[in-house]
Amino acid sequence: QSIWVINGPNLGRLGTRQPEIYGTQTGGDIHAVLQGEHPQWDIQWKQSNDEGEIIGWLHEAIDGAIPVVLNPAAFSHYSYALRDACAMVTEAGLPLIEVHLSNPAAREEFRTHSVISAVATGVIQGFGADSYRLALAHITAR
Ligand code: DQA
Repeated sequence: QSIWVINGPNLGRLGTRQPEIYGTQTGGDIHAVLQGEHPQWDIQWKQSNDEGEIIGWLHEAIDGAIPVVLNPAAFSHYSYALRDACAMVTEAGLPLIEVHLSNPAAREEFRTHSVISAVATGVIQGFGADSYRLALAHITAR
């Protein structure tokens, strides 16, 4: 069984992007931790700076009945197109866990609202790379 961990714009530069906020682990590092902890899952780490590509992946997740962990990055704050695609995932009965490394509620005003949260299964934010680990723990327990 696959689980897709989908990451939005600028998250391909984890490790060097504002490490004081997002930590020093790369996406590959975090993926390796997740896969090591869950050998029973085929965990695929995906990242795109392209809204349309991410929406296409969500459509594929619906067709393949694949649970999704999504860090929508800055799209969280304004992408209604991504929100609509996320709603289709959860309406299909699949889990879609929104995650953030930082706690956007404690940062700039524009980050305090996510247009995704209302259609996500749940939200985990502020725990660094552990936000992803906690999301995987939920999907495993489910
Ligand atoms: C983020 C928070 C967003 O506000 C920001 O645009 C990101 C990363 C996080 O993981 O903390 O790119 O989603």
